[in-house]
Amino acid sequence: MVRGMTEARTRITKAVIPAAGLGTRFLPATKATPKEMLPVVDKPAIQYVVEEARAANLSDVLMITGRNKRALEDHFDRNYELEEALTRKGDESRLARVRESSDLATMHYVRQGDPKGLGHAVLCAEPHVGDQSFAVLLGDDLIDPRDPLLSRMIDIQEQFGGSVIALMEVDPAQIHLYGCAAIVPTAEADVVRVTDLVEKPAAGEAPSSYAIIGRYVLDPAVFDAIKKTPPGRGGEIQLTDALREMSHRDDDGGPVHGVVFTGRRYDTGDRGDYLRAIVRLACEREDLGPDFRTWLRSYVTEEMQD
Ligand code: UTP
Repeated sequence: MVRGMTEARTRITKAVIPAAGLGTRFLPATKATPKEMLPVVDKPAIQYVVEEARAANLSDVLMITGRNKRALEDHFDRNYELEEALTRKGDESRLARVRESSDLATMHYVRQGDPKGLGHAVLCAEPHVGDQSFAVLLGDDLIDPRDPLLSRMIDIQEQFGGSVIALMEVDPAQIHLYGCAAIVPTAEADVVRVTDLVEKPAAGEAPSSYAIIGRYVLDPAVFDAIKKTPPGRGGEIQLTDALREMSHRDDDGGPVHGVVFTGRRYDTGDRGDYLRAIVRLACEREDLGPDFRTWLRSYVTEEMQD
C-alpha cells in the first residue's frame, strides 16, 4: 500500500442503506410495511442500522427505498403532533425516544423503481455518492451494537485502498444461502484478501465457508462495475457479481479485502433470526430484561418437561 495515498484519502462520510427489497420471506407482514420497519423489541430494525452508521461517524445517510417508502421516511422525520402530545403530558423520556430517530443523521432518499437486485439498488446511489468511497449497510442486517464492525472496515479500507466486505464463517451446509468468498490470509488476523466471489454457490461448489454479510466499504469504481454486470442469480443484478470482477483487480476499485466478523449478527429478514434477535436484545435490556428473562426461564423449563 502506498502510504502517501492513505494520508491523502479523506475519511468516508456517506452511508447507503438499501431497503427496497420485496421482503417476501416475511409476507404477509411486509405486504404494506417494509421489512426494515418491523420492530426489534421497540425500535424498527432500520433504526439500529442508522445508529450503527452514526456510531462509525457516517452522518450522511442515503436510503434506497421502494414501494411503501413512507413509513421509512416518516420514522426518521420529526412528528410534531406526537411530540406536542408528549410535551403536554410531561412525558420527557418518551419524547426523547421519539426524537432520537430524527436527530441521528442527515437523511436522504432515492427510489429504486423496480427491485432489480442489490447491485441495482446500490447503483441508484451514484448521483449522491459521486467519486468518494462509501459504506453500504443492508437495512435488514442487524449487527449487535456492542460488536463494532464498520469502523474496523473503514480503517482497513484506508490502510489497503480498494474495497472491503464483511465476512462471517458459517456452517458449510448453510453457505448456499449466502455470497461466498475465496480468500487468502493477510498479516492481520481478522483481514483476508478476497480472490473470488460467488453468489449462493450450489452444494459442493463453495470456495470456502466465508459468507458475505451486509456491510461493505466500496470504492466508487463499483458503479461502473455494476453497470457492466448482467443479471445473475434470480435474474437480479447482483452486487456480489460486480465485486467478483473487482476482486480480480489491483486498482480501479480493487483489491477487495474482507474483515472477518465474529460478533453477533442477525438477518432480520429471516423469521427465525428475527425472533432470536428480539429474544436476545430483550434479555439484555436493563428495563425489560430482568422480567423477561424470568418469564423465559420458566417457559423453557415448561417446554423441556413436555
Ligand atoms: P434480500 O436478498 O433480503 O431480498 O435483500 P428482499 O427482497 O429484501 O427479501 P426476500 O428475500 O424477498 O425476503 C437484501 C437487501 O437488499 C435490499 C433489501 O431491502 C435488503 O436490505 N434490496 C434487495 C434492495 O434494496 N433492492 C433490491 O432490488 C433487492
